[in-house]
Amino acid sequence: MIEIHNIKKSYVSRSKTVIALDNISLSVKEGEIFGIIGRSGSGKSTLIRCINLLEKPDQGQVIFNHSNLMSLSDAHLRQARQQMGMIFQHFNLLANKNIYDNIALPLRIKKMPEKEIEKIIMPLIQLTDLEQRVENYPAQLSGGQKQRVAIARALATKPSVLLCDEATSALDPETTLSILQLLQKINRDMNLTIILITHEMDVIKQICHRIAVMEHGKIIKEQDTIEFFSHVSSEADNEVVESYLQQEIPELLGSVMTQQVATDTDPIWRICFQGDAVSLPLVTTLVNNFQIEVNILQAQIDYIQGIAVGIMIVEVAGHDAQLKEGLDYLRQQQITVEVLGYVPRNAIRPA
Ligand SMILES: Nc1ncnc2c1ncn2[C@@H]1O[C@H](COP(=O)(O)OP(=O)(O)O)[C@@H](O)[C@H]1O
Ligand SMILES: [Mg+2]
Repeated sequence: MIEIHNIKKSYVSRSKTVIALDNISLSVKEGEIFGIIGRSGSGKSTLIRCINLLEKPDQGQVIFNHSNLMSLSDAHLRQARQQMGMIFQHFNLLANKNIYDNIALPLRIKKMPEKEIEKIIMPLIQLTDLEQRVENYPAQLSGGQKQRVAIARALATKPSVLLCDEATSALDPETTLSILQLLQKINRDMNLTIILITHEMDVIKQICHRIAVMEHGKIIKEQDTIEFFSHVSSEADNEVVESYLQQEIPELLGSVMTQQVATDTDPIWRICFQGDAVSLPLVTTLVNNFQIEVNILQAQIDYIQGIAVGIMIVEVAGHDAQLKEGLDYLRQQQITVEVLGYVPRNAIRPA
């Protein structure tokens, strides 16, 4: 539905050039909630503004529903933009217009008759739970209500995509959750594709089907959300990705763990399991069936969109053949096991 090919964008000022987007390619499927996370300044807002061409990329292509937006005439681009709603961190409502008029604005710009406007926006006012608020002005509303107005306004032109730039970043956690639930409902019921930019991992966990991590104008990782949190990865993650996984290696391991196998060292495994595997008696099986000693150093279970994702870091001790069999057993259960390194036996526990 949206494909971005090799986009570059720089900002040039007197003193320096900032490369905001450094050769970004991305593809978002119809009906998906796609999350983009990254630290401040990593280029997220520039990227989302390039998707609807609020910002013109220096090079590359933006393909939306099979047409290349960069080659459209102004009139056709305006039409394409009606297909893309956008909401912002600070809501961007008009202070001197009431809620009804704020929501009706994009349709009045199109010179739609008032009767038709009403037919379109009354269901949106209901959807966003603003029936009691239509006569109010933005200043009389809470942050969550203001964002709901912005959502209703963004939906007025019946877009197929909603672009959200830090839409919950100015809201408290409870209100954030209610806005995310509303976005999820819109995604499901109206089949609206959503691209959501955030610096908060909890937002991604709550509703995003896929995630891209941005750093210094590049996408450094792109993955299915559940796989991301299950550490299903073919390559080593960099420190930014690790920090989002909130799975730093326990401190006590840092000083003693090496990548070298030697006599009298034990492997450290990171075991990640999800869904039904959470209820498997993994540790018991390793101990009883493979005579592997298991020392749990860290364990947590997280719920991501209702799916349990568990992560355990363990030191294991046993004969090489048994360790290998244990490892094979786990992998047969669709459990991801990484060997993080090795520690001298008894280095991290009493003899
Ligand atoms: N209009 C602009 N003029 C100059 N530099 C800009 C402009 N917009 C963004 N930048 C720079 O581009 C980089 C990416 O910014 P931005 O896309 O806003 O990041 P994010 O949304 O991830 O915080 C930053 O270094 C920022 O300072
Ligand atoms: Mg930003």
